[in-house]
Amino acid sequence: MTIRHLLDITDLTVGELRHVLALSTAAPKKVLDGEGVALIFEKPSNRTRHSMEMAVVQLGGHPVYTRGEEIGFDTRETVEDVTRIMSGYHGVLAARVFAHATVTRMAACSAVPVVNMLSDRSHPLQALADVITMKEHCGPVDDLVVAWVGDYNNVARSLAEAVLMLGGTMSFGCPAGYDAPAAELTRLAALGGSVSQTDDPHAAVVGAHVVHTDTWISMGQEEESAARRKVFSSYIVDSTLMGDAAPGAKFMHCMPAHRGEEVSADVFDGDNSLVIAQGHHRLTAARGALTFVREASR
Ligand code: CP
Ligand code: NVA
Repeated sequence: MTIRHLLDITDLTVGELRHVLALSTAAPKKVLDGEGVALIFEKPSNRTRHSMEMAVVQLGGHPVYTRGEEIGFDTRETVEDVTRIMSGYHGVLAARVFAHATVTRMAACSAVPVVNMLSDRSHPLQALADVITMKEHCGPVDDLVVAWVGDYNNVARSLAEAVLMLGGTMSFGCPAGYDAPAAELTRLAALGGSVSQTDDPHAAVVGAHVVHTDTWISMGQEEESAARRKVFSSYIVDSTLMGDAAPGAKFMHCMPAHRGEEVSADVFDGDNSLVIAQGHHRLTAARGALTFVREASR
C-alpha cells in the first residue's frame, strides 16, 4: 500500500495539485467514515484548527485536537513513538510544528498519511486556499502576476510553489537576508511559470494582480521582533504600494494580521481585500487535501 503525505505542495505533481483543487471545491465525500484524524499543534491556531476540525466532520471522521506539550515530541517520547502509536488509531495524522523535520520524521514511520499544518519551512494548506481564492476572484492562475512583499517565509514558499506549478508569475519584494536565496529561486524557477525577486517592494508589485503579504515575525521568531521590525519597516503594504500594482489589484494575507505593521488598516479592510474569503477557503482546501491523501493512500 502506498501512503501519500502532504508536507509540501511539491509532494504533488501538477496534475495532482489540480486534482486536489477540484476535490476541494466538489461536494464532500465521506472518505473518513468512522476514522479519527489527529490534529497536533505545537503552535497556536485559529483558522487551521477550526477548518481542519470541520473538514474532518464534513468528511465523516472524528477530529482529535492535541496540544504539542501534551504529547511532548522528543521530551515525553520520541516523534516516532508518538506517530507509530497514533497511526493505529487514526486515518490521518496532521501536525503544526516548529521544525519541518518533525513532519518528515512522522511521515517516515507513519502507517497513515501525514499532513503538514504549518512548519518553519512550509504551509501547504494555506497555499491551496490561496490559489482557490485567486481562481475565484481573479481568474485562472496562469494569467496572474502574484507579488509577495515582505519575508520569504513558510507561507511565501508554499504559495510560490502552488502559483508556479499552475503556470503563474511570482514576483518577490523582500529585503536582503530575508529573501529567497539564489538556489531557492533556481528550484522555484524549475517548477513552471515565471519567478523574479527584488529588494524594492514598489518594483515588485508593478503589474501585479494580487499583492500578498504576511507577518514580519512568524511564530517562533518572537526574540527577533525588534530587529525584524526595523528591517521590514519600508515593506508595509499600504495604499501607495497598492497604487503601484495593476489597476484593481487584490490584497491577500494568510492572517493573523497586524494593522500598521505589514499592512495598513485601509488596505486590509478595503474593498480590494480578499482576506476573509481567503480565510474561509481554508475549509475548502482542508477538505480537498484530506480527501486526496485518504483516497490516494487506499
Ligand atoms: N493562516 C493560518 O494558518 O492561521 P492560524 O495560525 O490561525 O491557523
Ligand atoms: N508565517 C506565519 C504564518 C502564520 C499562519 C507563521 O509561521 O507564524
